[in-house]
Amino acid sequence: MPDELISQIAAGEVVERPASVVRELLDNALDAGASQVTVRLASGGVRLISVEDDGLGIPREELTVALRRHATSKIASLDDLETVGTMGFRGEALAAINAIAELSILSRFTGADSAFALDGRTGELRPVARSVGTTVEVRELFFATPARRKFLKTDATELAHCIEAVRRHALARPEVGFSVWHDGKLVEQWRAADAREQRLADALSDDFVANSVAVERLGGVVRVVGRAGIPDAARSRGDQQFFYVNGRFVRDKVLSHAVRSAYEDVLHGQRQPIYALYLEIDPSRVDVNVHPTKIEVRFRDGREVHQAVRHAIEDALAAPRAGDAAAPSGAPQPFFKETALPESASWSQPAMNFVARERGAGDFEAMWPRRTDELGHAPDSTPSHWPLTGAAPMTFRAPVGLEEPAAASASTDEEAWPLGRALAQLQGIYILAENTQGLVVVDMHAAHERIVYERLKTQLDGAAITSQPLLIPATFAATPQEVATAEACAEVLPTLGLEITAFSARTLAVRAVPGTLADGDPVELARSVLAELGQHDASTVVQRAQNELLSTMACHGAVRANRKLTIDEMNALLRQMEATERSDQCNHGRPTWRQLSIRELDTLFMRGR
Ligand SMILES: Nc1ncnc2c1ncn2[C@@H]1O[C@H](COP(=O)(O)OP(=O)(O)OP(=O)(O)O)[C@@H](O)[C@H]1O
Ligand SMILES: [Mg+2]
Repeated sequence: MPDELISQIAAGEVVERPASVVRELLDNALDAGASQVTVRLASGGVRLISVEDDGLGIPREELTVALRRHATSKIASLDDLETVGTMGFRGEALAAINAIAELSILSRFTGADSAFALDGRTGELRPVARSVGTTVEVRELFFATPARRKFLKTDATELAHCIEAVRRHALARPEVGFSVWHDGKLVEQWRAADAREQRLADALSDDFVANSVAVERLGGVVRVVGRAGIPDAARSRGDQQFFYVNGRFVRDKVLSHAVRSAYEDVLHGQRQPIYALYLEIDPSRVDVNVHPTKIEVRFRDGREVHQAVRHAIEDALAAPRAGDAAAPSGAPQPFFKETALPESASWSQPAMNFVARERGAGDFEAMWPRRTDELGHAPDSTPSHWPLTGAAPMTFRAPVGLEEPAAASASTDEEAWPLGRALAQLQGIYILAENTQGLVVVDMHAAHERIVYERLKTQLDGAAITSQPLLIPATFAATPQEVATAEACAEVLPTLGLEITAFSARTLAVRAVPGTLADGDPVELARSVLAELGQHDASTVVQRAQNELLSTMACHGAVRANRKLTIDEMNALLRQMEATERSDQCNHGRPTWRQLSIRELDTLFMRGR
């Protein structure tokens, strides 16, 4: 193969479209320590891509070398690759671009008294005027490979990809200013920012910041910081997901799986969370040289990274969002929309000061009528439920910077209740409450389900769920499948607080149930747990399966729709929600409550104030 062809093939791996050139040139500008970068594009980048920086520049004698393959100033040996802190390390990018486009470099090195321009085609060097820094110009991309050029999309699409490439760099480096021009017009501009939040707000949106919580996990080998979207802000597309490893934007299976599992409990179906997360790790623990475009990495210890990311997000989502920048902002939006919910539903479920009150926990269950009188199926027409026996201690995280919960509990001021004071029940489904912002609407089943679920999980975390033996075992006619599952899962069931044994070939006996669910229908509980277990391989009942089981159990335990609640019961449920982690969503990811502010009500009634 002729050399030129070899270079073109190699270039094809690095440069797929104009945005790939933008990415490589931005990498170089940032490696050179630029504080301001200007990107100029013509015709979606196909005609021209120019990236100008104010970095340290290239010495005259190195200019021609820079275009040679494997010429890099960034590493000197293979060992250096172990600790590489720059975006570039292969000495490949400029050579690749030069093979498939007309390239020229204008640069003035720090301390030099003149600038030089290099023509990539002829190798000619001539003096020019410019300040310290570098401009790389790339014209007529793929001019020599028309087949590739044909694969390009419209200018508008290519431009969008180019802007996305700049955005990804901008999110990694808030202290650097970026501007993008297209066909002579300024299309994006992000000024240098002191704080990451500011850059996220500028380069993504104010809503992104308003609808996300701060992630900060600083201890250990793997540091994770950034922002993770609240479940309510999840979208149908994964277009607001940014993950960086040591400043480099990556798409990685370990990382996306870790994020997914952190949201597992709170996200509905295929909804995609929004996030911008920054992982920092000792460079020797991650291999960045695994993909031509460097978008993939390989961790030496994937588990360590998975756990750090997962816990970082879980902690951030579970923590009460007190005083967080995530407070609702912006113009009021109508509560009722004829169209689908807006992607950024900032109006719907504002961040809330959840302050746990000791007396709140357990009160709700304590009010439930005990059903010790009868076991077995509920004789009444309403669906049976599993009232909790309460008293299990709730765990919660004290909100940072707020009063201790104990101090807060001293106050009996109803105004301090984030979810407000119960007013009424609607259609046997919703609780209506009044708080300082306006009206709160709570789906009582969804809310209670989450409370029960979190409590069961807390218990399971401790060790096994405490189980309560039944005085008289509840027997029931079981299917052969149910009997088989009960036998196969004889070791798993006790960890769930259940004891189910075969009474005969066709009869099962429930001998113990979780203490938390002691007053419910043991047969119905046993049946649904066995059905669930039957679907999982008993030998691999890992935490995931357990959480699903707990979720099933919680659903049984939760108050059903159509049950009339007294005002006191409603208030007790609201107080318990305030004290429960993740109580904004039920375990199926549906929201448990919504706020309808006075401003929204005013807008609804066109009432000016
Ligand atoms: N904007 C710039 N400012 C200063 N030096 C630059 C700039 N762009 C390129 N260089 C110099 O040119 C060399 C070659 O750049 P090139 O992008 O081809 O390789 P690299 O960045 O070293 O590695 P990689 O192929 O992984 O990007 C760099 O090592 C650097 O010395
Ligand atoms: Mg480079």
